[in-house]
Amino acid sequence: MVLQRADLLSLLDKLTVEEKIGQLIQLAPPFFEGAKSEGDITGPLATMGVTKEDARYAGSALGVAGADEVKAIQDAYLEKSRHKIPLLMMADVVHGYETIFPVPLAIGCSWDLELAKKSAEIAAKEATASGIHVTFAPMVDLVRDPRWGRVMESTGEDPLLNSLYAKAFVKGYQGEDYPESHDHLAACVKHMAAYGAPEGGRDYNTVDMSERQLREYYLPAYKAALDEGCEMVMTAFNTVDGIPATGNKKLMRTLLRDEWGFDGVVISDWGAVKEMIPHGVAADEKEAALKAINAGVDIEMMTACYVNHLTELIESGDISETLLDESVLRILELKNKLGLFEDPYRSATKEKETQTVFSKEHRKVAREQAEKSCVLLKNEEGVLPLEKSSKVAVIGPFAKGKDILGPWSMQGKIENAVPLVEGMQTYFSPDQLVVAEGCGIENGTPEQLEEALHAAKQSDVVVLALGESSDMSGEAGSLADIRLPKVQRELIRKVKELNKELVVVLFNGRPLDLDGVIHEADAILEAWYPGTEGGAAVAALLTGHANPSGRLSMSIPYSVGQIPVYYNSFNTGRPQGAPNAQERYVSQYLDIPNEPLFPFGYGMSYTTFEYRDVALSSTTLTQNEPITVTVKVANTGGVEGEEVVQLYVRDVAGEVIRPVKELKGFEKVTIAPGEEETVEFTIEEKDLRYHHSDLEFSSDNGEFVAYVGSNSRDTKAYPFTLVSSK
Ligand code: GLC
Repeated sequence: MVLQRADLLSLLDKLTVEEKIGQLIQLAPPFFEGAKSEGDITGPLATMGVTKEDARYAGSALGVAGADEVKAIQDAYLEKSRHKIPLLMMADVVHGYETIFPVPLAIGCSWDLELAKKSAEIAAKEATASGIHVTFAPMVDLVRDPRWGRVMESTGEDPLLNSLYAKAFVKGYQGEDYPESHDHLAACVKHMAAYGAPEGGRDYNTVDMSERQLREYYLPAYKAALDEGCEMVMTAFNTVDGIPATGNKKLMRTLLRDEWGFDGVVISDWGAVKEMIPHGVAADEKEAALKAINAGVDIEMMTACYVNHLTELIESGDISETLLDESVLRILELKNKLGLFEDPYRSATKEKETQTVFSKEHRKVAREQAEKSCVLLKNEEGVLPLEKSSKVAVIGPFAKGKDILGPWSMQGKIENAVPLVEGMQTYFSPDQLVVAEGCGIENGTPEQLEEALHAAKQSDVVVLALGESSDMSGEAGSLADIRLPKVQRELIRKVKELNKELVVVLFNGRPLDLDGVIHEADAILEAWYPGTEGGAAVAALLTGHANPSGRLSMSIPYSVGQIPVYYNSFNTGRPQGAPNAQERYVSQYLDIPNEPLFPFGYGMSYTTFEYRDVALSSTTLTQNEPITVTVKVANTGGVEGEEVVQLYVRDVAGEVIRPVKELKGFEKVTIAPGEEETVEFTIEEKDLRYHHSDLEFSSDNGEFVAYVGSNSRDTKAYPFTLVSSK
């Protein structure tokens, strides 16, 4: 039974201004009595300008995990709370809690929304059993620049695909029976807005784009999460049109609250309120507090601008206490909705936690998600799947390496990760496998190389397990050179000289510049950070016990010089390869192609598919008469496989320039060898709407082209016309 609104209002009335402001601060565990790390205020925590004193009326804690610790902190806090208002416990459960799933970019490559939802459901179950009430997820920032370390946390470069995943994740975290069910938790969509578009791919850097671009590409996924009922929003570190999101009233109040009608809790990112000072839009903490509260930021994460200055701002009349009350009430309502006033632990107990986390069933789903998220990029001469009689050398830092959980996997235990060799041992006898590290991720020794070459010489086929350490990705993990580290490219080159069949498996968090890999390897499997069961999943794929079905949700560039490169780009006035195009004076590079090495939607299978009999129900579409596009897809190979049938559309002439292709539908179908499936898409007038120069969101009559195919490049064109339905 939750409290009535009247109860909350009367509770609000009883609070002093200091107690109200206290509800607005969120701090890490060391600031709280009862935390295992109580008082350990060192390192980055010591630079935030907050004290244990600031926690006395705090409204929430972040990064607490474990039923026992949550209870200890909650009990110590409530003991001293005059009105017994429980703490909200929030944490980054982004791709799993203790059972770690592949990073979201990998999940984005599975094109399996149901499975994504299931992974979020399992994460929620493990996190709630461990005392967490809110997760800082889904991260839905659209990404086009793999130099940015946090592309691993996004589901990719397409607004529709990101929106569908945003909905799937929110459904999984919050569930149908939210908030009654204590197996689900509140979700917090982040980072509003356009954090994935920093200049130069450098984290926290300036983001600057037109409002039309923002609304067309970057905002849809946040809106999709909120339309699915996502409880909270987190502000981004970056500026949006010259103003940091955390103080951006136009974005966080006028658009988010007034236009979209969001009345939930908004939280700043870590320190982002105070960062308005170095951003150069606040002279001091007081001005930072003023801008953030006016922008509708309810909770200040890890800095004390509110605690130190809101009282003064109210007393001086700069802000009204009503504004403060609105924020406090939203926070109290969330606590009430989660049932914290009745049960501050939301049924979390050590026993429930032990029974729930890291269960066999959960790991089974993590394995399935990893199998479906890997992308087979190259497979010359059918080198893969490996012959079961082969002698296989498994070489590289990820042969035995367990750093495959990826960033934002704090509660994952790296020792529980299944490395590749362990997975391979399921399918090969000891005398068939020879293992050598060959080099570290960034360094190596002549002895390591010698051992690797010796191992390779003894084998029929070499599997090189290469990639990035997880701290080369994730927050503050930007790289200007996105090739594999030099020592790994040298290892490839040396092994290649032995003329063995060469398979490269990549464990990493971003689309890489595959210079030094693409020509040398006979086969390449992109495994991303595949999570706890990663090595088992990759081994199943390498041996054909699972058939790769991942499709890129983010383009892999030909080279870093090409970035940003993405499929839904614009044609320009001088497109390369147009009829009668001049040799030189067209939009091109003199030294590399315009196209990415591997395009959005691309991925191979161990079987082959043939697209047949594409038919449009009509070549004229009106508001009232959508058209359907049907296509028959045949499995023309020898094994069962999953194909992601994709539908794209192009608006040939808009009021503003329109992308050469936009994803409008997809279906992942399993087809037995020799069988054929019919896939049907519907294109409605609303699918053709876009933001005009005056930001009106509508469609225009005119010519369009539907494209059907297995990725954004390999498609066939089917023209149709939109006419008014008069
Ligand atoms: C970080 C991240 C954000 C995360 C928060 C709390 O700086 O930007 O995604 O949720 O702090 O850990």
